[in-house]
Amino acid sequence: SPAAEPYRPQIHFSPKAHWINDPNGMVFHNGTYHLFYQYYPDATVWGPMHWGHATSKDMVHWQEQPVALYPDSSGYIFSGSAVVDVNNTSGFGKNGQAPLVAIFTHHNAKLEKSDPTHVEQQSIAYSLDEGKTWTKYAGNPVVPNPGISDFRDPKVRWFESQKKWIMTLATKDRVTFYSSPNLKNWTRESDFGGNAGAHGGVWECPDLFPLKHNGKDVWVLIVNINPGGPNGGSATQYFLGNFDGKTFRPNSTQTKWMDYGTDNYAGVTFANTGNRTVLMGWMNNWLYANKVPTVAWRGAMTVPRDLSLTPVGSELYLTSTPIRELDKLEKQAKSLTNLKVNVETDLTTKLNVGAGPYQLKLTVPNPADFSLVLANQQGNELVIGYDKAANAYFIDRTKSGKTDFDTSFAGRHTAPRLSTAPTMQLTLLIDRASVELFADGGLSVMTDVFFPDAPLNHLKIKSATGLLITECGYKQLSSARDS
Ligand code: FRU
Repeated sequence: SPAAEPYRPQIHFSPKAHWINDPNGMVFHNGTYHLFYQYYPDATVWGPMHWGHATSKDMVHWQEQPVALYPDSSGYIFSGSAVVDVNNTSGFGKNGQAPLVAIFTHHNAKLEKSDPTHVEQQSIAYSLDEGKTWTKYAGNPVVPNPGISDFRDPKVRWFESQKKWIMTLATKDRVTFYSSPNLKNWTRESDFGGNAGAHGGVWECPDLFPLKHNGKDVWVLIVNINPGGPNGGSATQYFLGNFDGKTFRPNSTQTKWMDYGTDNYAGVTFANTGNRTVLMGWMNNWLYANKVPTVAWRGAMTVPRDLSLTPVGSELYLTSTPIRELDKLEKQAKSLTNLKVNVETDLTTKLNVGAGPYQLKLTVPNPADFSLVLANQQGNELVIGYDKAANAYFIDRTKSGKTDFDTSFAGRHTAPRLSTAPTMQLTLLIDRASVELFADGGLSVMTDVFFPDAPLNHLKIKSATGLLITECGYKQLSSARDS
């Protein structure tokens, strides 16, 4: 109930109990989406990692399943990916049934002091029963450690034109690409990133995939980094370029960020989704993840996002938008047209705003400074807005309720407005303890969590200079946890 679990996400995956971090092994198989995740089933803080498991028909309503992978004598089960081995290259399939193959990092904590460069290596396991039970390969590890202390988070995809698997692996301050005919024998191809992008922390959870632009493939390399994000701690950078099966060549080595909020980390894409590329991240930040004030569980995922490429002038950017399946949650809609904001307008009764979850869509031609204030009677405020002089969006959670569990939590986060369109379009997804802002078709994205003392069930909009909002649409969403 809301009283018992005031921060329980309603439109996001969270476990019934205990700790989660990164999404792992996301794959679509036989009509079902699988989400595995870093899971510690014995506590609400990080510990010896397992792969938890949840399934869904639509990436919105999730059913938690029994734990899929347990730690063993080779170590904890760290992050990784899963593929459907359609051609049975691995030979794990039986009777014409394609195996699901998981590729993950074994992290042997026992060696952390004595032999740190042999703690992490890559292993595989397969399932012939829809991800319920898994058999670890007897020949593990399939990629032994060459002497690199951070050597993890394999993301594997099929490279059709050369009929081989490509593994993208985080190797400390860069990514290393490997190839394989059968998921068992891997050859090192190249590395990328020693001299490119942000290096404020270690590189983790990479992903490599093509997206179409003007009918041609552009390769996207996602690299999660912790710390060193644009607003502190964990964040996701990306590079656009070309990949020929061996080498990644970026168009530019400049840092680009997928999400400027503090709470979208370790995001990677689902495998086997055809022409669609869907990413989901862990809605948290290593700065304070172990301290956020939830009780029965700790951690949740972002909403899944469709990825595409959008040009601004001669620059190309990766854009994220909430998946259309979320529309099914719509309960009640109310919209206002040509709303004139003169200093301050209370939207609570105008739109019949409740405590969330809800979606808010705004169309603002020629935007001036403005802020949306989500508030309650306890005096908590979460402020989301646009600063015209800085040409930046912001989310300020300084006074959003419980913030003192970590000194890094309270703060105002900013994202540059990349779009040059005169009309601004905003989509906000508000859950009980999170906000996801998708501005200008997903060119500027921010994801932040917050922990109010009571539900933020008031909404007002402020603009000192006055503002015209041509469309202001509110949609109350039903809980995805009902089914
Ligand atoms: C990223 C990460 C990964 C690692 C996992 C351990 O959040 O640090 O690099 O595999 O979490 O739980």
